[in-house]
Amino acid sequence: MTTTIALITGANKGIGFETARQLGARGITVLAGARDKARGRQAQGALRDALGGLGDGAAAQFIPLDVTDEKSVQEAADWIEREYGRLDILVNNAAIARGGPPSQADLDEMREVFETNVFGVIRVTNAMLPLLRRAPAARIVNVSSEVGSITSQTDPASPLAQMPAGLAYPSSKSALNMVTAMYAKELRDTPIKVNAANPGYTATDLNRHSGFRSVAEGAEASVYLATLPDDGPSGILWGHLWATGAPGDGYGPLPW
Ligand SMILES: NC(=O)c1ccc[n+]([C@@H]2O[C@H](COP(=O)([O-])OP(=O)(O)OC[C@H]3O[C@@H](n4cnc5c(N)ncnc54)[C@H](OP(=O)(O)O)[C@@H]3O)[C@@H](O)[C@H]2O)c1
Repeated sequence: MTTTIALITGANKGIGFETARQLGARGITVLAGARDKARGRQAQGALRDALGGLGDGAAAQFIPLDVTDEKSVQEAADWIEREYGRLDILVNNAAIARGGPPSQADLDEMREVFETNVFGVIRVTNAMLPLLRRAPAARIVNVSSEVGSITSQTDPASPLAQMPAGLAYPSSKSALNMVTAMYAKELRDTPIKVNAANPGYTATDLNRHSGFRSVAEGAEASVYLATLPDDGPSGILWGHLWATGAPGDGYGPLPW
């Protein structure tokens, strides 16, 4: 049986680490991307401990990867090519959250957020595409957010519409949604599926652990989209809605 190879960016902590753990628990070989070597090695140890004893196939390997650094991304692609010759799953998970309301936008800060959350995804995806094309049925998952949903942000009935207006992070995720749709469109005649995942409001460093979902729940959508069957969708946003127990709350396809 051929092993499935998955690369997860920003996998040293939070939802990315948990996504790597859950994929590894399914016997998938996980390449845990991290921009900091010490944090990456620590995550590799924690993943191997968590996956230890699972037997066939389960393996975890740290791979240095800063999504904003062209050289680092190309070196990661070259290493995967030498080691495995292909890539079956790419989870573009790494992101940063910064910024205040539109009227106080700091353009340097916005560029920084877009450099990671949007251009980083395009940089990594294009570097990995030759390897993804060599896999029998590759899956690309872009980890987005419901705060990037224009439908939800402008629906007075949505809890998101009640939140203070932010600019950099929400608009970076809206851009990522279109990036996802356009890759899905370009690749629609290939076996590659490209989708966006919404973890829901999850307790991680990103929000100083104010989220009400666990990382296990937060990683669910990424794992689902990373392991879609051949008749699964491409070009959708999927995951957890903001509110628990509120009307319309649920888990499934979400409005862009
Ligand atoms: N938490 C939520 O409520 C929530 C909700 C919706 C969507 N999301 C999305 O879920 C994903 C994971 O977020 P999280 O909550 O798990 O956040 P997190 O705990 O802050 O983890 C973010 C990860 O991204 C990495 N990263 C940041 N910049 C990077 C770069 N330039 N290159 C490589 N890695 C980089 C971080 O590495 P360092 O440790 O080196 O900083 C870290 O591993 C993000 O796409 C986020 O937007 C989160």
